[in-house]
Amino acid sequence: MASNSSKFSPLILFLLCLLATTISAASRGGIAIYWGQNGNEGTLAATCATGKFPYVNLAFLNVFGNGSNPELNLAGHCDPASGGCVSLSTDIRSCQKQGVKLMLAIGGGIGRYSLSSQLDARNVSIYLWNAFLGGKSSSVFRPLGDAALDGIDFDIELGSSQFYDDLVRYLKSYCSPKQKVYITGAPQCPFPDRLMGTALNTGLFDYVWVQFYNNPPCQYTSGNTTNLINSWNLWSRSIRTKKLFLGLPAATQAAGSGFIPADVLTSQILPVIKKSPKYGGIMLWSKFWDDQSGYSSSVVSEL
Ligand SMILES: *[C@@H]1O[C@H](CO)[C@@H](O)[C@H](O)[C@H]1NC(C)=O
Ligand SMILES: *[C@@H]1O[C@H](CO)[C@@H](O)[C@H](O)[C@H]1NC(C)=O
Ligand SMILES: *[C@@H]1O[C@H](CO)[C@@H](O)[C@H](O)[C@H]1NC(C)=O
Repeated sequence: MASNSSKFSPLILFLLCLLATTISAASRGGIAIYWGQNGNEGTLAATCATGKFPYVNLAFLNVFGNGSNPELNLAGHCDPASGGCVSLSTDIRSCQKQGVKLMLAIGGGIGRYSLSSQLDARNVSIYLWNAFLGGKSSSVFRPLGDAALDGIDFDIELGSSQFYDDLVRYLKSYCSPKQKVYITGAPQCPFPDRLMGTALNTGLFDYVWVQFYNNPPCQYTSGNTTNLINSWNLWSRSIRTKKLFLGLPAATQAAGSGFIPADVLTSQILPVIKKSPKYGGIMLWSKFWDDQSGYSSSVVSEL
């Protein structure tokens, strides 16, 4: 049963894959944005066609693990369960043609998800690979059709912290020179993140967009940048990731607290955080709120 179709060992393939990811990383700051949780935020294709967002996270797969049947929720956009979202493959391909990286965001603030064992983490990784990434299985329905997303974004805000490090490792093991598997994440700013710290410690995350909001001790508060900058510096020193992003609400109503006026961001904060070697840009929650506020348009040229 020997095969000569691959002359590389899995380890070498894995290293090649990491190298490819590093080389393709953009050098100036970009905007990552969440799309999917409001039907009135334009299509995925239109989001990518703005040219403002090199990274788009599709939110959320909010039910998975512990024996559950996984559920994708895309609010008013379409109904994944009835096959109503398979036509998104056309949008996915058009985004990727423009160089936009698309991640499936798993978790979120409302849902039912947890991993009950290492074996469960493996089962979920197989599901994610076959349902959303480069895998194919006749027994697994692909809610977004046959186009393959570029990776998985971890937004674990509920339940237990356990076995997400295993899930990250299993997902990364699918990475090959033919298809990279990006791993990204949106921890809360209190360091280390209570639920995602262990997973982040694997050092396998390509991009980390920390939520510097809804957490007064580590966010911008009324004219004072001290807590935010201190927290950014702590993350920047401590975390092993290729790029670190400043995650922000795109409008005052987009979060309970932590909104930063665009002029404060560009004049007082970007000049400081851009000095960090890991600086990758900003993350915004969400496309819907950005449409209301015009935030990305006000700051994109300053990143
Ligand atoms: C494995 O994952 C599938 C979803 O793909 C789920 O329906 C099933 O219950 C899981 N199996 C176990 C043993 O948890
Ligand atoms: C898994 O589900 C069982 C039964 O519903 C529950 O008792 C248990 O706490 C769950 N485990 C995790 C890690 O969520
Ligand atoms: C800003 O906040 C920090 C930390 O809470 C505090 O020590 C400092 O005095 C504040 N600066 C101003 C100008 O209010």
